[in-house]
Amino acid sequence: MTKKQLNESVEYLKNKGFDSPEIGIVLGTGLGQLVDEIEEPIEAHYHHIPNFPLATVEFHTGKLLFGFIENKKVVVMQGRFHLYEGYDLLDVTYPIRVMHELGIQKLFISNAAGAVNLNFKKGDIMLLEDHINLQGGSPLAFKNVAEFGDRFVDMSEPYDFEMREKITAIAAQENISLQKGVYASVVGPQLETKAEYRMLKILGADAVGMSTVPEVIVANHLRLPIVAISVLTDECDPDYLLPVNIQEIIEIAGKTEPKMIKIFKELVKVL
Ligand code: HPA
Repeated sequence: MTKKQLNESVEYLKNKGFDSPEIGIVLGTGLGQLVDEIEEPIEAHYHHIPNFPLATVEFHTGKLLFGFIENKKVVVMQGRFHLYEGYDLLDVTYPIRVMHELGIQKLFISNAAGAVNLNFKKGDIMLLEDHINLQGGSPLAFKNVAEFGDRFVDMSEPYDFEMREKITAIAAQENISLQKGVYASVVGPQLETKAEYRMLKILGADAVGMSTVPEVIVANHLRLPIVAISVLTDECDPDYLLPVNIQEIIEIAGKTEPKMIKIFKELVKVL
């Protein structure tokens, strides 16, 4: 990754009308409905944006949208890049750097995750308070990282405290029950074994998924305040583990998404 590449991506988007968005939003698997809330949308397909990671077949729907939510300028990533699709950590986090160069000052991230904490149920949403990186690498482990910021990035509070407080208040006001906890990121794409779910619990994870942490690390590198919400799509009980049903996971993500949309929209309003 070079500054020149980043500038080319950003120039393309600016020319398309992506004019100084204030807030960036990353939509996770099965979580695309927020796109319908964008007013005056402008679209840029990932495979048209210079230097964006090359799309896999299933990724042809991936796009960046610019527009307005609650009268604020937003840029929304519909579909993200995952390690399990064969991308590397620089690919996965490239769009975060592009959105930052476009001017965003806040970032919201969503994902679908499994509930490791068995007090949490499928259909719940969880505000990330912290995370455990189990992806075996860092998006900051590259030679010219110093051109982009510090190498030894502080992670004592990766998720912005003020925005978390605002989300807590919004959930209470909207009568949305909100879990809070620690998200562990794995590579996937295979789901976890019973022994792995036991391990994750012992490690202190409340939820597990295959994304988000690389983007959060890069946002911290950029000193970009972020918040993240997991939509819990399945219960990962090692003593009673049902075979995974991807169809059901996507269905539950879709059914639960309105709660997340409500919270993100209210948060945009009060920022
Ligand atoms: N693991 C288990 N369950 C899940 C995941 C995962 O990575 N993502 C969504 N549900």
